[in-house]
Amino acid sequence: MAALVKLQKYLADAGIASRRAAEKMIDEGRVKVNGVFVKKLGARVDPSRDRVEVDNNPVQPPLNRHYYLLNKPKGYITTVSDPFNRPTVMDLFAGRSKRRLFPVGRLDRDTEGVLLVTDDGELAYRLTHPRYKVEKKYHVLVRGYPTAKDLDRLCGGVDLQDGGITAPAKARIISVNKEKDLSLLELTLYEGRKRQVKRMCTALGYGVVSLKRVSFAFLSAKGLKPGAFRPLERKEITRLYSLVGMNNVTSNNR
Ligand code: URA
Repeated sequence: MAALVKLQKYLADAGIASRRAAEKMIDEGRVKVNGVFVKKLGARVDPSRDRVEVDNNPVQPPLNRHYYLLNKPKGYITTVSDPFNRPTVMDLFAGRSKRRLFPVGRLDRDTEGVLLVTDDGELAYRLTHPRYKVEKKYHVLVRGYPTAKDLDRLCGGVDLQDGGITAPAKARIISVNKEKDLSLLELTLYEGRKRQVKRMCTALGYGVVSLKRVSFAFLSAKGLKPGAFRPLERKEITRLYSLVGMNNVTSNNR
C-alpha cells in the first residue's frame, strides 16, 4: 500500500495551492475525497487510490518525479558534483538535493540561460538525444560582422573537424554594434554537441564574447532572474513527454 499523505500536502504537491492555502480550502469545505466533503485538517489520503476534488474539479495526483526550469547564471558548472569544489548548478537547488536531481544536458560555465533539472532519467535521455531534434535557441555575441555567406554556413553545416559536420540549423543577425565591432546572432540548433555554438562561431573566425540559451524546446527563462528556478507546470511536462514520444507522465499512482 502506498504511504498516506496529509490532504493539504497532497493538494500542495499537486500544485493546487500552497499548504496554507490548501488548509483554508479544506476548512472552507471545498475539498472532497472519494465524493465526500472532508473538513478535517489531519485527514490523510492514499495518492494511489483516493479521488480528490476541489470545487468539484478532480485533482491530478502529484508526480513522483521533479522537473525544474533554471535560469543558469554564469560561473556555475553544469554537473552534479565537481572534484575541484567549484560552484555547480546543483548548489542553486540547496535543500532539494535529496531528490537526486541532475541537469539535462550541459551549458558551459560561462554560458547562462535555460537549463532543465530533473530526476527523470528517461525524459532527460530523450531530450538530449539527437534523434528527437529538440530545439535549442541561443543568443551569441561575437566579434565582427558575419556575412550572409557565414549565416548560410552556420545553417547548412560547419565542419567541426573532430566532431564532423553540424546538423542543419537556423541563424540570423539580431543586431550589430559597429562602434564596438560586435554582432548579436540567434542560432537555433537541433542537436547538442560539446561547446557547439562556440566551436561553430570560431570555425568561421568569429570569437564569442558571451552566450545565452534563450529557449529549450518551448521553454524560456522569462520571469526568472539568473540563479532562480521554478517547477514545470503539469501541462509543460506533458508537452515535453509528447515531444519525445513518451505518452505517460509518471505520477504516484502509475
Ligand atoms: N554551445 C556552447 O558552445 N556552449 C554552451 O554552453 C552551449 C552550447
